[in-house]
Amino acid sequence: MEERIQTLLNEVNAYAAGDKAALEAFRLRYVSKKGAVSELFEELKQVPVDQKKTLGKVLNQLKQTAEARLQELTEQLESAPVSSAEIDLSLPPIPNQLGNLHPLSLTRYRIIEIFERLGFNVADGPEIEDDFHNFSALNFPENHPAREMQDTFFIEKKSAGSQQDILLRTHTSNVQIRMMENQKPPIRAIMPGRVYRNEAISARAHCFFHQVEGLYVDKNVGFADLKQTLYHFAKEMYGKDSKIRFRPSYFPFTEPSAEIDISCLICKGVGCNVCKHTGWVEIAGSGMVHPNVLRNCNIDPEEYTGFAFGMGIERVTMLRYQINDLRLFSENDVRFLRQFQPVV
Ligand code: PHE
Repeated sequence: MEERIQTLLNEVNAYAAGDKAALEAFRLRYVSKKGAVSELFEELKQVPVDQKKTLGKVLNQLKQTAEARLQELTEQLESAPVSSAEIDLSLPPIPNQLGNLHPLSLTRYRIIEIFERLGFNVADGPEIEDDFHNFSALNFPENHPAREMQDTFFIEKKSAGSQQDILLRTHTSNVQIRMMENQKPPIRAIMPGRVYRNEAISARAHCFFHQVEGLYVDKNVGFADLKQTLYHFAKEMYGKDSKIRFRPSYFPFTEPSAEIDISCLICKGVGCNVCKHTGWVEIAGSGMVHPNVLRNCNIDPEEYTGFAFGMGIERVTMLRYQINDLRLFSENDVRFLRQFQPVV
């Protein structure tokens, strides 16, 4: 038996493991419970008592040597440089964890894409605005209740008259005025941006949100152009089955005015809290640019007409992704944000 122990010891010391398979073979033969060394331990039980002590000692040495050698061989194999022949270049790479765009950005890009294809430019204007561009030029009469339709965050109240008051814009319609002041018709642009209103925060309202203003001023622009443009938008954004309706409404800066509803895609008309169980979701205000507004910007209403609309990006997004609470957009919860994968 001593001889066999010696042979095994020699084998263990001389063993070279070129690859993982050879390493595993080593483990099975010399270290595992069913290996040659364990077998010898079984045999040891039958050995006469007087030899047991010496044999047991050498056998234990063999066991320890084998275990140490396994450790050594494993380390050798792990630190060995990988030859290029072993790298499979055809394997797909491990994908990087990409961040993704905010759902409101995804929707804004989609809206821009749709209107750009209809020939609209993209413009923007200031979020901190004076009363003139946010209200007066848009035909909001002084001290008229229409001014209170939109609860405003004022930054600076000037005593000289409200037109110079500084405020956070309550809508993107201020950019209409800035464009018409600076450009001669034809004007065809959309103007995305953030707007602010002093409102209690709930599932349906927030103190800040986003709009896309649209403006088209040229000779012979009519209500039919407005209708067709928004009809096209609805089909592009929500698919052929979506429906659109115009409801008569009032804005000081448009005449006639209409509110635009899209059929509720969330509940398909059955009733949900996004459409308040009506089957319709209001996504925009619109109308023909009021002659006074054109005049305020030195555009002759006898020569030019135009349409305008202001669309809520949150509303469009809620309908698009079936989101039923506006607050989710501004809570920065990654469990929510991660669900909107980048469009590659
Ligand atoms: N500015 C209006 C709002 O915020 C929307 C609108 C824009 C209506 C343009 C008509 C024309 O409610």
